[in-house]
Amino acid sequence: VSSQGNSSDGFLSCLTASIPRQLVFTPSSPSFTPLLKSSIRNPKFFTPSTVRPLYIITPTNASHVQAAVLCGRRSGLRIRVRSGGHDYEGLSYRSVRAESFAVLDLSSLRAVRVDAQAATAWVDSGAQLGELYYAIGKASGVLGFPGGLCPTVGVGGHFSGGGFGMLLRKYGMAIDNVIDAVLVDAKGRLLNKNTMGSDVFWALRGGGGESFGVVVSWQVKLLPVPPKVTVFNVPVTASQGAADLVTRWQQIAAVPESATPYPHRAGVLYNIQYMNFWSMASGDGAVQTRWIREFYAFMAPFVSSNPREAYFNYRDLDLGENVVVGNVSSYQAGMVWGQKYFKGNYQRLAMAKGQIDPDDYFRNEQSIPPFANSR
Ligand code: FDA
Repeated sequence: VSSQGNSSDGFLSCLTASIPRQLVFTPSSPSFTPLLKSSIRNPKFFTPSTVRPLYIITPTNASHVQAAVLCGRRSGLRIRVRSGGHDYEGLSYRSVRAESFAVLDLSSLRAVRVDAQAATAWVDSGAQLGELYYAIGKASGVLGFPGGLCPTVGVGGHFSGGGFGMLLRKYGMAIDNVIDAVLVDAKGRLLNKNTMGSDVFWALRGGGGESFGVVVSWQVKLLPVPPKVTVFNVPVTASQGAADLVTRWQQIAAVPESATPYPHRAGVLYNIQYMNFWSMASGDGAVQTRWIREFYAFMAPFVSSNPREAYFNYRDLDLGENVVVGNVSSYQAGMVWGQKYFKGNYQRLAMAKGQIDPDDYFRNEQSIPPFANSR
């Protein structure tokens, strides 16, 4: 949106007039680097050549988020939002291309308020999944929530892209159980389910982080779980119908593809995640990366095709990146990666983006392009 210089100075003076100075960090402040590193999960994205933010802002309430967005727009500086920092490509705190931006780090916005009577909870985006589960567990021994496995994953990014874990078969995904959300949009407005409109509320629940604004908090439905869980094995051989049992298991919990932006529902048998690990001391990972790419190609005949489907929360820039035309991400170019993540829901997501952020202020390498502007 702009090169470093006047616009970033304007951002800083606008911001420090609107929010407490101690919530704004510049590279010269001693806490800047520890704060930037605090939720980076992949050291690959913290090297001397990493494109880092000019500022980090740590809001403690929604009005600080609104101020950051308004100052960002006024001075022409983009914002990347970070909740738990677990993005597989690090897009919440780094840019792939040379770009000036600020990071809005929501780690100080992490309250969880459980209403066990109503079986609902409000959770701020900066809370980690483990904090959400702990708060629910403290309030009730018979309520749970179907999100991901890793306790340090941030609620903000996780809910934005879908979110599944051990309760998937019984209760679906995190997004299937989100009943309201508080969003700061590109105009700095604070919106809820009713005021943002049904298309945008649909899009927030799985259409991917960064695209539609900053989700400050989410209201979720809590679901019954037994106070005690007993685990046991029942051995079933092939001749006793093991294949039928597995087939039946695959058919439990079928949800229509368009119910939320996450389309990998009925008919999708498995979600496979390919991983490889190396230490930074042992090299740049070129060998391991090549191995993963070859393995991905090897698997092609055995997995979905046209499109080869992918889960947004397992972000992969090899699937494609946005192309910006006339300062707006191109809808056509985004189809390359967008249809793999969202299948037929990609266009509806782009229309929702066109409603809430037609100027494409909130964008990254794989944010949803606005449809109306690119026709
Ligand atoms: P992060 O803060 O990096 O954000 C991810 C994206 O969302 C970025 O583009 C960011 O800008 C945007 N964003 C973040 N907060 C936002 C907000 N409040 N408003 C708008 N945009 C926002 N998934 C799963 O389904 N089940 C699982 O069990 C696991 N387990 C798991 C373990 C580990 C170790 C990792 C690293 C990842 C997973 N995941 C997962 C994937 C995880 O769900 C995915 O990476 C989430 O996007 C991470 O959310 P964070 O808030 O932590 O990321």
